[in-house]
Amino acid sequence: MAFLEVTDLAKSYGARDVLSGVNFTMEEGEFVSIVGASASGKTTFLKIVSGLVPATRGQVTMGGAAVTDFSPQAAIVFQNYSLLPWLSALENVRLAVEAAFPQYSRTQQNEQSEKYLKMVGLGGAISKKPSQLSGGMRQRVAIARAFAVEPRVMFLDEPFGALDALTRATLQQELARMCSQAARPVTALMITNNVDEAILLSDRILALGRGPAASLSPAVPVNLAKPRAADLLMHDDQAIRIRNRLAEFLTAGAESRKSLSRAAASALSKTVPLEA
Ligand SMILES: Nc1ncnc2c1ncn2[C@@H]1O[C@H](COP(=O)(O)OP(=O)(O)O)[C@@H](O)[C@H]1O
Ligand SMILES: [Mg+2]
Repeated sequence: MAFLEVTDLAKSYGARDVLSGVNFTMEEGEFVSIVGASASGKTTFLKIVSGLVPATRGQVTMGGAAVTDFSPQAAIVFQNYSLLPWLSALENVRLAVEAAFPQYSRTQQNEQSEKYLKMVGLGGAISKKPSQLSGGMRQRVAIARAFAVEPRVMFLDEPFGALDALTRATLQQELARMCSQAARPVTALMITNNVDEAILLSDRILALGRGPAASLSPAVPVNLAKPRAADLLMHDDQAIRIRNRLAEFLTAGAESRKSLSRAAASALSKTVPLEA
């Protein structure tokens, strides 16, 4: 049995069918990404898999046990930095560390938090409040917090989606570096609307078709040594083939619904257009 297993998952909000017939498996130590257009049901999928939202039908298991709640062994990073505004960067991380390692003394919790804030380049900003930090820095805090709890699995929902292109590229490389430096292989499920971001970080990539009743494509493996450099991937033959395959999955559903212009279809090879 795989570490994470999703079987015949469906989700409806009232009469609106968002997901249908979704099957998915993932092993421990794998970094898997799911790409899809806006409103296709990516966040819904991640929330169900992480136990934050119940499915309408189907089953999710982690480590062989049914997922019914958010696991204390998991960490999640959202697009809109979910930091507590009245706490410093250090305290935001420490609260999560305290929950994960209640046996640690306050000093150990602070040390663990500071270590991970330093790893994301925020050693000089640990006492700053979120309002004193840029968007990129806030998202670094969220990433430090996720790694600091040393989770068994990490869920990332468009972690860089709210950042400008340059900051986004920097943080993608930071995340790649953090993953490669971790003590054990990181198990992560990332949602993104950016195919290149998925290729940079993932072992396998799946595409979520357009809704209603969206389902997942077969997985596309990425057999490139890690960590990877974004500029080299631009011209790598395998990366180009992966980009094209995912674009096929993403446009196939869209074209059958006649909802995608030719221009948008070609743009898909890079970033999935935001309009559904
Ligand atoms: N709590 C909710 N109640 C009703 N509809 C929802 C809810 N959450 C999401 N939806 C709808 O489900 C669809 C998929 O949403 P979401 O999973 O957020 O997509 P994505 O993350 O791919 O942009 C959208 O049409 C959205 O409006
Ligand atoms: Mg979303």
